[in-house]
Amino acid sequence: MDGKVHVIDHPLIQHKLTIMRQKETSTRSFRQLLNELSMLLAYEVTRELPLTDKEIETPVAPMTGKVLDGKKLVLVSILRAGTGILDGMLSILPAARVGHIGLYRDPETFQPVEYYYKVPEDMSNRDAIVVDPMLATGNSAVAAITLLKRSNPKSITFVCLVACPEGVATLQNAHPDVTLYTPAIDERLNDKGYIVPGLGDAGDRMFGTK
Ligand code: URA
Repeated sequence: MDGKVHVIDHPLIQHKLTIMRQKETSTRSFRQLLNELSMLLAYEVTRELPLTDKEIETPVAPMTGKVLDGKKLVLVSILRAGTGILDGMLSILPAARVGHIGLYRDPETFQPVEYYYKVPEDMSNRDAIVVDPMLATGNSAVAAITLLKRSNPKSITFVCLVACPEGVATLQNAHPDVTLYTPAIDERLNDKGYIVPGLGDAGDRMFGTK
């Protein structure tokens, strides 16, 4: 069974993404927009989290309120570009736990190789949200999720800014149980592994390294 794909069509998200895509957008603006967009992505992705009743007292009367059920979420950033999404998400999910997965691409085999893996110890019973701005070949996403599954989270959701059909197919084939949230599925991947039209190199644009 194919995993669920949610294309997030919220007008604020679409508007901010379009500005981020423009080549003349500065590093400063790109980072600011990424921060704002990530907050909105967190809002959309958490829409179906389960709630539980909580008895409270307002200054006026007792009532039954709703609070999030279960253990704290874990946000898992794929280094380095995932970090840019993390900051915005954490500003509306301040109690979330955080994991990091570092992968580099072997220059000969082009396969992702793990160089860093650190997630909370008690992952079972926690929902994990893996973040990486670009779902391009899908190889890093697949490798990161394969590693994460060793830690046995309750569920895994993948969130990006821009996907392409090749990346979506690769992710779904390898991990049909993972739900994908993306504001855009672009046209295609080019022969250098960039999404077309995409937004360029997300890491370089957010960190100003090129
Ligand atoms: N990584 C990026 O940063 N951009 C792409 O278009 C593809 C992969």
